Amino acid sequence: MDLKKITVDGVQLAVRDQGSGEAVLLVHGFPLDHTMWRQQWEPLSARYRVIIPDLRGFGQSEVTAGTVTMAQFADDLAKLLDALRVPTVTYCGLSMGGYIGWEFWRRHRPRVSRMILCDTRAAADTEIVVRGRHWMARRVCDEGPGFVPETMLPKLFAPQTLGTPSDVVDQTRRTILTSSAEGIAAAQRGMAQRRDATAMLSSLDVPTLLIAGTHDVISPPAEIRQIADAVPEGAFIMVERSGHLPPLENPDDFNQAVLTFLSG
Ligand code: MLT
Repeated sequence: MDLKKITVDGVQLAVRDQGSGEAVLLVHGFPLDHTMWRQQWEPLSARYRVIIPDLRGFGQSEVTAGTVTMAQFADDLAKLLDALRVPTVTYCGLSMGGYIGWEFWRRHRPRVSRMILCDTRAAADTEIVVRGRHWMARRVCDEGPGFVPETMLPKLFAPQTLGTPSDVVDQTRRTILTSSAEGIAAAQRGMAQRRDATAMLSSLDVPTLLIAGTHDVISPPAEIRQIADAVPEGAFIMVERSGHLPPLENPDDFNQAVLTFLSG
């Protein structure tokens, strides 16, 4: 299926728009693109309209240099939904897609009917993590994304995923290697300056599902459970045999959790 190309504030964004009915917006993590959701788009679009963008700077979307804040990504998404004439969505984001979700809630709350937050964090970065992000932003601009997979893949996947031959890890490596250096740097700078969302969690008054991969070392399950506990209608589920990317590592269990939540 060809991606639609929609220009938002002078930036062309690519989006997969599939199925009909209630809309579900799937927002990818860093430094990935819409193909991160390739195991979801058929099963979900059988019952829902599934909207899967490449965020600004990633995949087939245009890149803007400098810093792209989580608020900018959230506003891009709202304008994309305007262009697609979609008033409300179930917002589903993974990791950076979750950070953007907090901003989407802050800025576009009436558009959110439910939330699904996967392998993400509410806390802002520590000083050391901020330094690491600026280090990667500088290095990727100097030498391109060649070094990024080896830095990130061991943290993205559970040991079992890394040790089992499949195209999941290889395809993710290819996605990272073909990403724009400027896009990676801009998102890193944006994540480094994101706000702490912890105090906002009690305002999330829509049904909300928190999903954690059992082996996630970037956003540990215990921290994700705390988010669910702080959200009034928060539910929490763990996906076995997964690290940071359950939609790719254990799509069957992930899809079942999401479809059960959506139908409830
Ligand atoms: C992601 O998967 O989006 C990233 O791991 C988020 C981060 O770097 O904090």
